[in-house]
Amino acid sequence: MFTEEKKKRNYGSIFVYCFFCFVFVVEVARFAKPYYNLENLMETEAVVEERLLDVVNSEILPCHFLSSRSASVPATKDQKLKGPIIIYRDRPPTSYCVKFESFANMSNLIKDGKYESRPFSLGGYNWTFVIYPNGNKPDAAAGYVSVYAKIDNSSLIANPKDVYAEIKFFVYRRTLDQYYMYQETEAQRFHLFKPQWGLPNFLPISYFNDPGLGFIFDGGQSVFGIDIFVAQPFDKWEVFSYEQNIRDPLFAWRLTNFSIRYLDFYSSGSFSSGGRNWELKVYPNGVGIGMGNSLSLYLVSASGERGYVKAKLRVIGTTNVEKQVEGSPNAVENGWGFDKFMPLADIRDTSKGFLVNDALKIEVEILSFSKTDNI
Ligand SMILES: *[C@@H]1O[C@H](CO)[C@@H](O)[C@H](O)[C@H]1NC(C)=O
Ligand SMILES: *[C@@H]1O[C@H](CO)[C@@H](O)[C@H](O)[C@H]1NC(C)=O
Ligand SMILES: *[C@@H]1O[C@H](CO)[C@@H](O)[C@H](O)[C@H]1NC(C)=O
Ligand SMILES: *[C@@H]1O[C@H](CO)[C@@H](O)[C@H](O)[C@H]1NC(C)=O
Repeated sequence: MFTEEKKKRNYGSIFVYCFFCFVFVVEVARFAKPYYNLENLMETEAVVEERLLDVVNSEILPCHFLSSRSASVPATKDQKLKGPIIIYRDRPPTSYCVKFESFANMSNLIKDGKYESRPFSLGGYNWTFVIYPNGNKPDAAAGYVSVYAKIDNSSLIANPKDVYAEIKFFVYRRTLDQYYMYQETEAQRFHLFKPQWGLPNFLPISYFNDPGLGFIFDGGQSVFGIDIFVAQPFDKWEVFSYEQNIRDPLFAWRLTNFSIRYLDFYSSGSFSSGGRNWELKVYPNGVGIGMGNSLSLYLVSASGERGYVKAKLRVIGTTNVEKQVEGSPNAVENGWGFDKFMPLADIRDTSKGFLVNDALKIEVEILSFSKTDNI
């Protein structure tokens, strides 16, 4: 009886002891994090001071400085980087670069404010590159550098419209001698009421504290870059009543009597999308490397476009064949497409359902285009 009672009391005190241990651990964890951020939270908005301009006034162009290649950082370190499309590339940014002689000094100077680059002109608009070295609060998670592309609203005030632009952000990484690049797959929409777009959580601030990672180098320097590609797909007023077509500018073409098409190529005839005229051009027996084995399929501009086009080409079957073109026209065809769009054997295979009453159904969906001479 007595020993039983004592055992119970022992269990009781072990339980109480463990409970306090648990509470202690939880409290420590709860207090540690906010305390870590306290310094940042207490900082107030600061404005960029004139002398910051000095950081970009280096004699060497920020994106074209010389550097020596050194050993690569192990892959495990790269895996920490986050975002949808991320690569390292050799080629410097093409639109604009900002070099900070000292990331740490700039960061101290700006506190919780932002560094806004001088304006640069692209695609008919003026832009600035905005960097928040301590994050754009409250959008940014604690401990991240934020980066934004900002369109100058003066031309939008005079002529309100939507501007779509594909944006890439870069940071030079000395240890790889390459540019870390973050690219969004879709073009971003800018307009009067939303003049800036970017990444609140671009890279952890800690990357810019550790020279070993290579984002800062030569005594704390860092280089940020941006590419802005303004897509100029549609004339707002011409397409206003076809708003659906802006998002889904689809053209379908039935190529009838497919098995007795003996000419080299056939054209769909001109159709209009986004206020421009286009044609589909098909080689039923292939051209170039596709000759004799593949269907060759191209989107061609009927109004002399030679710039960037992003479009999906499709041949309809039980399972459609779809391929995307993106970029400048193919030099040989002067169009956007593929010598080897799909094997002829697949078309002839009746189980795949491409030929219906000897007709092939071809579609194009034009997603965006621009004239390079506008840039
Ligand atoms: C950064 O700030 C420190 C202290 O103010 C100064 O000594 C140093 O020269 C600065 N570095 C650069 C590159 O401006
Ligand atoms: C861009 O900025 C320059 C200089 O401030 C100005 O002359 C020009 O009109 C601007 N362009 C546009 C499209 O706003
Ligand atoms: C245009 O941009 C400036 C500076 O960013 C801002 O102060 C102004 O309010 C904007 N104007 C409109 C109409 O949004
Ligand atoms: C092509 O197909 C049409 C029906 O779509 C048919 O009337 C016509 O005779 C065919 N032409 C040839 C040359 O077979």
